[in-house]
Amino acid sequence: MSIGWQELFARRARCITGSQIRQYFSLTEKPEIISFAGGFPESRCFPGEEISRVITDLITSDCRGTLQYTPTEGNWDLRTYLAGKMQREGSPCGVENIIIVDGSQQGLDLICRLLINPGEPVLVEEPAYIGGMGAITSYGGIPVGIPMDSQGIMPDIMEKTLLKLRKQGQSPKVFYTVANFHNPTGYTTSLERRKIVMELARRYNLIIIEDNPYGELCYEGEVPPSYISLDREGRVAYLGSYSKTFIPGIRIGWIAGAVPLIEKICLAKQTADLCSNSLGQRLACHLSREGYLDRHVKRLIGYYRRKRDAMLAAMEQYFPPEIKFSRPGGGFFTWVTFPRSYPPARELLMLALERKVAFVHGEGFFSNGGGTHCARFSFSQASLEDIDTGIRRLGELFYEVRDQAGRQAAHG
Ligand SMILES: Cc1ncc(COP(=O)(O)O)c(C=O)c1O
Repeated sequence: MSIGWQELFARRARCITGSQIRQYFSLTEKPEIISFAGGFPESRCFPGEEISRVITDLITSDCRGTLQYTPTEGNWDLRTYLAGKMQREGSPCGVENIIIVDGSQQGLDLICRLLINPGEPVLVEEPAYIGGMGAITSYGGIPVGIPMDSQGIMPDIMEKTLLKLRKQGQSPKVFYTVANFHNPTGYTTSLERRKIVMELARRYNLIIIEDNPYGELCYEGEVPPSYISLDREGRVAYLGSYSKTFIPGIRIGWIAGAVPLIEKICLAKQTADLCSNSLGQRLACHLSREGYLDRHVKRLIGYYRRKRDAMLAAMEQYFPPEIKFSRPGGGFFTWVTFPRSYPPARELLMLALERKVAFVHGEGFFSNGGGTHCARFSFSQASLEDIDTGIRRLGELFYEVRDQAGRQAAHG
């Protein structure tokens, strides 16, 4: 007898659905494809020699301690280091405000598990990071998108949305944001807007989940102060990550937040995994405290800046001028907007794959069916040469598409 899994799954498991985008990854990540799709860090930058040196030292000097479980909150020295780092960036954190998690994605999952009831609206940026929306919807939350422009989230629309929801008898508790070099748009929310959003959070009693995996990868100027540094009430849960500035394979990130929240997260984490990767925590701690990772991030900035510059220059040169793209000051992504006269980006992706180039079309980043004529391009992984070749091939394709759309329009 075949097992009826759909009936066996608990009600809450029905909210867990895959993203549309992951289904394309088997197509976009083939070796012959020049891929601008994945948001992975460039693996050629992983400091393998340094990692094996430190792991050997850690095992030789204290094999038992290094390989044992850590407390659920995480390795004390790493938490102390991260509290100091948060303080240097302007937020008054102590060790008790920090918990280590398995990458910021686990942080998102745990926070959503604790804060979101099924059916509750949750404010998100529009477009929003797919993994963030996935965590929200997997606990039955309903993402409510607030549009962005090049200055980030639009606070006036945020307030209107809050008022509208209030009239319907609903009070969202959470706003989820990637304020620095946003995934997928590359936008950074300005300081002025952060202050207004902070004030709205106070007035409407919102918790802000500030997800900041890209903030240190800043290619010009400085990022504005974080929400957590502007917060005076403990209403920001900040997520940091070693994935983009070091390596994703150790799965180490952290949450900084108010003690009652951190304590509850610790209890929730106990039933998820007991503790994060012990060896990875010691590795991250050692390289952070030595100052190695600060130097590494400086090298990454130079490296990714060249890739960003190459992608923007190639888009400028090869794309028809009516195709618009964002100019990110850091991070991995630029956001491309096609005119309405073009076919949807999903169809453009299929044509691009025939020419062995991939990107991510926009709908998956929207909670409401928008984004049909948008796409995310990542410049983090492709080589400088592939960036030029891939964008040139797409430029040729887009000129053909535009001519065809023009001919169709002329024939009525
Ligand atoms: C905005 C954002 N948040 C969280 C994550 C997950 O990162 P981590 O590897 O720390 O779990 C990513 C990964 O791409 C991301 O882009």
